[in-house]
Amino acid sequence: MSIVFTEIAKTFSLHTSKTTYQLKIGNLNYVNHLYYGATIHDEDLSYLIRRYDRGFSGNPYDSLKERTFSLDAQPQEFTTQQQGDFRINSIEVQNPDGSFSFDGRYIAHKIYPGAFTLKGLPTAFATDKDTVDTLEIVLEDAVTKVQVTLLYSVFEEADIIMRAARVHNGGTGEIALKRIMSLNMDYMNGGNLDIISLPGRYGQERQVERQPLTHHVHKIRSGRGISSHQQNPFIALVEKEANEEYGSCYGFALMYSGSFLAEAELDQYDQARLVLGVNDRLFSYQVAPGEDFDTPAVLMTYTHKGLTAMSRNYHNFFRNNLNKSKFVRDIRRPVLINTWEAAFFDFDDVKLIEIAKAAKGMGVEMIVMDDGWFGKRDDDNSGLGDWYVNEKKIKCGLTELVRQINDLGMKFGIWFEPEMVSEDSDLFRSHPDWVMEIPGRHAVRSRNQLVLDVSRKEVQDYLITSINAILDSANIYYVKWDINRAITDLWSNALPAGHQGEVSHRYVLGLYRVMDGIIKTHPDIMFEGCAGGGGRFDPAMLTYFVQYWSSDNTKPLDNLKLHYGSSFLYPLCTMGAHVSQASSMVPLETKAAIAMCGTFGYELDATKLGPDEVAVCKKMSDLYLKYYDINFFGDYYRLANPFENVNLVAWECVSKDKKEALLTVVTVNLTVNGPQEYIHCRGLEPDSLYQVEKEGSGVVLTASGMALMHAGIPIPREIPEFTAFMYHLKSL
Ligand code: GLA
Repeated sequence: MSIVFTEIAKTFSLHTSKTTYQLKIGNLNYVNHLYYGATIHDEDLSYLIRRYDRGFSGNPYDSLKERTFSLDAQPQEFTTQQQGDFRINSIEVQNPDGSFSFDGRYIAHKIYPGAFTLKGLPTAFATDKDTVDTLEIVLEDAVTKVQVTLLYSVFEEADIIMRAARVHNGGTGEIALKRIMSLNMDYMNGGNLDIISLPGRYGQERQVERQPLTHHVHKIRSGRGISSHQQNPFIALVEKEANEEYGSCYGFALMYSGSFLAEAELDQYDQARLVLGVNDRLFSYQVAPGEDFDTPAVLMTYTHKGLTAMSRNYHNFFRNNLNKSKFVRDIRRPVLINTWEAAFFDFDDVKLIEIAKAAKGMGVEMIVMDDGWFGKRDDDNSGLGDWYVNEKKIKCGLTELVRQINDLGMKFGIWFEPEMVSEDSDLFRSHPDWVMEIPGRHAVRSRNQLVLDVSRKEVQDYLITSINAILDSANIYYVKWDINRAITDLWSNALPAGHQGEVSHRYVLGLYRVMDGIIKTHPDIMFEGCAGGGGRFDPAMLTYFVQYWSSDNTKPLDNLKLHYGSSFLYPLCTMGAHVSQASSMVPLETKAAIAMCGTFGYELDATKLGPDEVAVCKKMSDLYLKYYDINFFGDYYRLANPFENVNLVAWECVSKDKKEALLTVVTVNLTVNGPQEYIHCRGLEPDSLYQVEKEGSGVVLTASGMALMHAGIPIPREIPEFTAFMYHLKSL
């Protein structure tokens, strides 16, 4: 059992294979957080809490004038409200009498095998290789009878703990949740922590930022209704000394695709607190007596072995425990060509067949018909919402077009943007009340499109029915599911005034229902997510999508940064990456080597390539197949940081059995007559002998794992910038 309750000490010890998390039913039945770190057995760690009479830090009434007992200074598992803890809070509830108080004390707990699930929200699941146990602890406010159940599923082998909170209104009047976080995490000694986050913008998603945790509230958030290009729902707190190989790292990834909030604070006594959950901005959720509210889940992990090990825990977990699609692991994903950058809106069935024919020679196995095939969609000002085939463009009809593509020996994929509507569309003309628009105002336009009120059941049903009809009308193998704007004008015509603070969250729940109705009912279709690139690339989306389009920016050198940043959380097999026409100074081989640091494909007009270029593409598609298993299922190592002033950027994937590795090096800056540079491998078997083959040049070296890791591989100098080297290491 990975969860041990010690009756006498009243401690709960949650053990993964390498970590322990401990909490305790403390004085007055407040639940204290005691420890999260490397494995310690079940001993009571409450000696760590030292109590002092702290000025201006109040004492709960029933602590009986005990001045050293203050919630302001003690590590909590979840916060109270108005009980003298002035730090950032995990709950803010307005009670039926108008008061803002929550004094949650332990009343019950249960421990059971398996992972928890949440109502309408995605969670991770246990496979038959996992040992998973769940602890639920119920806190109750004795006056209002509002309960918060803290949920912990311990994925033992994976070193992951999944957490969430469930509010139950056990009282007699309606309550308003103004803030409810999925997780509260206290550190008794937080003065030595840095925050790592993945900020960005459209076209430059998931860059890496590291900053010290200081004495103010640090906020990492999206208020855009989508998890966003600007921040990813991920935060790590790491020891200042932590680097790729050493140091304590705590990772927290929220399984949510809407507006989110992480707040971290170093308090007056250098204790740290982190909360993470649904953004409380423009949020107020009514919970009627007897009803529940579930927060999204957080996946948390700890390692004292540095950033690589933290990322590794997530990579393994995301590959194994988020998505049951056969395309995650059992079926190799095809090399695809997407028509967007080749044709934009200017294509018809004949052009698609031409592209498919030309792409065959490049080793492409699937053509994806992007935006522009439906309704009256000749540019991005019209047609969204009309999910029926535009037969002026697809003259032969979709079923026949797909048949012809299949006859070429190719698979067929299609694009949708389900949540959006153009004002110039039949859907808008017949259902103008289905958009998010505040009464008496005009909705904000973005890319000249409006947002459907996906919180409404009839809108969800329309999307499920109309999109499924297309999917069932032809032999469709793949879907790219896009969203191309942020959500504004939070308003639902289907909700009364007092419930409008629920719209943002209800939208996300509605979206998950639509995705359940389309994606989960089509297990034979491979789904890729997209949000104008990676604007909604998050762990919840990966429960539906096996891969996510990383960015609309296909410039190879920008992608080096994007992949590096994304890799803090996401495995390569989830990152959509294509070779495109962008950046003509970068050779095709280099573009392809970089796109192999993701799910490989092309984003160009195959009919315009010369025979030499087609041959290069074929060679690179073949390499993608050759290295598929190492890239998709191996262990990934960041070897050189493209955000630093480096001459070489490098990464490595090592097969789980360490018998093979693929090392990719890209020269980004070559100084004249500069020094010899070496790349140090990682993750090899020290005593094994490896044969190092440079793609295109044959075997260049045979050396031990030790030598390759500690002494390195010399990288040739006399070559042009933007050259990619791929070294295949094989143990002898
Ligand atoms: C978004 C996507 C692109 C493409 C266009 C189509 O920007 O990221 O790849 O699908 O939409 O409109």
